[in-house]
Amino acid sequence: MKKKIDIQRLGQAFKRVRAASFCVAAATSAPLAAQAATPQPQSDAALIAHGEYLARAGDCIACHSTPSGKPFAGGLKFDTPIGAIYSTNITPDRNTGIGSWSFAQFDRAVRAGVRPNGDTLYPAMPYPSYARLSEDDMHALYVYFRRGVAPVNQANRAVDIVWPLSMRWPLGIWRYLFAPDPFTFNAKHYADPVVARGAYLVQGLGHCGACHTPRALTMQERALSDLDGTAFLAGGAAIDGWVPSSLRGNPRTGIGAWSETDLVQFLKTGRTQHSAAFGGMTDVVQHSMQHMSDADLTAIARYLKTLPSTDPKETAYVYNDTAAHALRTGNATAPGAAVYRDNCTACHRSDGRGYTRVIPALGGNPVVQDKDATSLIHVLLTGSTLEGTKTAPSPFTMPAFGWRLNDQEVADVTNFVRNSWGNTGSTVSATDVAKVRKTVTVRAPEMPPGAALSH
Ligand code: HEC
Ligand code: HEC
Ligand code: HEC
Repeated sequence: MKKKIDIQRLGQAFKRVRAASFCVAAATSAPLAAQAATPQPQSDAALIAHGEYLARAGDCIACHSTPSGKPFAGGLKFDTPIGAIYSTNITPDRNTGIGSWSFAQFDRAVRAGVRPNGDTLYPAMPYPSYARLSEDDMHALYVYFRRGVAPVNQANRAVDIVWPLSMRWPLGIWRYLFAPDPFTFNAKHYADPVVARGAYLVQGLGHCGACHTPRALTMQERALSDLDGTAFLAGGAAIDGWVPSSLRGNPRTGIGAWSETDLVQFLKTGRTQHSAAFGGMTDVVQHSMQHMSDADLTAIARYLKTLPSTDPKETAYVYNDTAAHALRTGNATAPGAAVYRDNCTACHRSDGRGYTRVIPALGGNPVVQDKDATSLIHVLLTGSTLEGTKTAPSPFTMPAFGWRLNDQEVADVTNFVRNSWGNTGSTVSATDVAKVRKTVTVRAPEMPPGAALSH
């Protein structure tokens, strides 16, 4: 597999040398790309607004700001196996930001991952996805970051990686092997122009694969588009203890049972009758997807629905009322059933169906049946808030249980929800829970003065 990629990369490098033929290829495919890229507005103000829209689609703000900092001033920490790195100031400040960068320099950083001084960027910046952005879209982004964003004077933080590991030349090799050169997105792979637009957004600005595609040992995504293979969006490894689930057509563990409308609703409001956004997806909905037009959300949804299941043996979910019946008739003898009855039924109900768009259903919910149960253990230990959005303003909070349920109880209730109401999921042990507990912060609720905290 790796060898195949290397050969492809060498081929691409060879093409880069043959610059002339590359230009011809780009020129001939340009009109097709125009189908997927947004039409360019004419006036200045409209171009800035368009650039802002694209910056939202790319979720630049989520990574290039800290929760208490100024927009786009950088400084957000990213842990890598060798130490921490920080996102940079991309405001138009001339001294500390990108105020003196030319379009070519900005374009090279965003699409090729190379700084003006020739240093390669860490792929925490998703340039392997952005490589396919059209020149027009890059131009609108540049105009927005130069003229639509307020300059902030804030120096970039140096990486917390010790020399010699901090040297950037190995990143150059990584980039050469695994990151595509900027190229023209080819919309003609997709017969339906709506699907083509969705593919452009998902693979490009949306960089959905940065979280949802599994990575190889050398950290590159195993596929950067559906054309590279079925690993694309097949579900990634946990990030900060949250598992990005499969976005392919798998009927239980993917979005096979979701309609296009369900997907649009989820991206726009973080909630459907199946599920509620949590972990890294909360940011994606908040900063990025809720601001997309309905046409673009429909395009994204329609494209995702074209990705087939990766497991022909995975059966469709069918509701089963055994667990609900037992709970309702007072029988909580199944492991975890009593913990569920005492702590969860008020919200998720004995039938596991929750309340549509308020409390997520647990029966039939793909994230509950994912092969990796880390997110479930995490959400039980720390709780989580379903944030409000413009069109669904009410937030709803799942309380933390880690301060009062022990590892065995958390394991039992996790196994109970993974295998009730027709769900199927592998079982977890108290040791698995203990491992997740070490990586998250479990807080007991703050009590008013004088009130006792009872278990
Ligand atoms: C997933 C997180 C993430 C997203 C999303 C992201 N960036 Fe970045 N970006 C980074 C990190 C981290 C760095 C610094 C990498 C390094 O130090 O090598 C960076 C570096 C850059 C740089 C180089 C700046 C410099 O001073 O070297 C530019 C320009 C940039 N990003 C622009 C953008 C734009 C425009 C968007 C949205 C279209 C965007 N980024 C989205 C994480 C992100
Ligand atoms: C920063 C990481 C990250 C990025 C980027 C990201 N996601 Fe997610 N996504 C997650 C996580 C974690 C989950 C699981 C939690 C949940 O269901 O909200 C998730 C869940 C989802 C779900 C619900 C799936 C289910 O079975 O419940 C959909 C749909 C989705 N993402 C679509 C997208 C799309 C489309 C994009 C790109 C525009 C995207 N995601 C980008 C992290 C991410
Ligand atoms: C006060 C209401 C409430 C209680 C009690 C509650 N939950 Fe939740 N639960 C929620 C809300 C709201 C969310 C959505 C959180 C989010 O999206 O960030 C949620 C999310 C979840 C999820 C993730 C599913 C998804 O798609 O977001 C799981 C799994 C879960 N709860 C299991 C449980 C279990 C097991 C218990 C009992 C130990 C429990 N919950 C108790 C309200 C509750």
